[in-house]
Amino acid sequence: MKHIALFTSGGDAPGMNAAIRAVVRTAISKGLQVSGIKHGYEGMINDEFVKMNLDSVSNIIQTGGTILKTSRSERFKTTEGRKTAFENLQKHKIDGLIAIGGDGTFTGANVFKNEYNVPCVGVPGTIDKDLSGTDFTIGFDTAVNTAMYAIDKIRDTADAHDRIFFVEVMGRDAGYIALNAGIATGAEEILIPETPTYLEDLYKHLADDFRRKKMCHIIIVAEGDDAGHAITIAEKVKKQFPNIDARTTVLGHIQRGGSPTYFDRVLASRLGFAAVEALLDNNFQVMAGLVNDKIVYTKFENVIKQHPSIDKEILKMVKILAS
Ligand code: F6P
Repeated sequence: MKHIALFTSGGDAPGMNAAIRAVVRTAISKGLQVSGIKHGYEGMINDEFVKMNLDSVSNIIQTGGTILKTSRSERFKTTEGRKTAFENLQKHKIDGLIAIGGDGTFTGANVFKNEYNVPCVGVPGTIDKDLSGTDFTIGFDTAVNTAMYAIDKIRDTADAHDRIFFVEVMGRDAGYIALNAGIATGAEEILIPETPTYLEDLYKHLADDFRRKKMCHIIIVAEGDDAGHAITIAEKVKKQFPNIDARTTVLGHIQRGGSPTYFDRVLASRLGFAAVEALLDNNFQVMAGLVNDKIVYTKFENVIKQHPSIDKEILKMVKILAS
């Protein structure tokens, strides 16, 4: 292996730059030539290859976003798009790839593997933490902290006005941000896609609280919850309790930006380093992850097969602590 290329793909996540830095510097230390591909799979198709050296990754460990840019490529989902991408890899004499991204990135990598089998190793970078084969994904810790600080501020005003706030956090199919931000902020309810939401239960919880004059509530809603978005749930609750004072806040993309926490920087450094080692060990078509603080490698097809499940004991704890 002489020349590798790396790219970031899908939704950006704080810590992706730290992972890019780790990959580039590790690969150069092992005598490899390194190219970056801009805009993920889209750039692989559009031939957006740039040479990387030690200086290309200076002063980026602390920054959010991704210096390589990213995209959600529709063209890579087509046979024609993947063929062009493969031809560009051949043109630049790329022997191995490092893909930094989430569910969609590894779904793409898995299809590409079946067609062209280009040696590839993945690094989990997504705020959603919805991948198997790793306890944490790069960006998740930062996103939860961002949500937590924002919700703490909302709590102040909710308390001052005795209001109910419905706060929507990211997580299209996964409730990990909601669950962890909710526990950390003492939310009264946490609604997540992994468990069915029964609005009758929510009404009962609120009615009990109102009887004991507890009026201030934070209800966290993961954007993918089965009962709908926060605004929809808020409207239904207002119909049920016409006298309550309720507001809705959607935290949105602020959860994707910002300087990564120490945890995400260290995680990204370890996983970027481990990904290069895997390529050099001929350990391909796997994602480097961290399980019980140890590096493990999991095949792409197992990474994307199913989300890690939510611990039932944690859900029980949430009910008790939120009472
Ligand atoms: O990358 C993960 C994520 O932030 C999800 O939590 C969210 O549903 C989605 O991306 C939003 O994607 P986009 O920025 O493309 O609208």
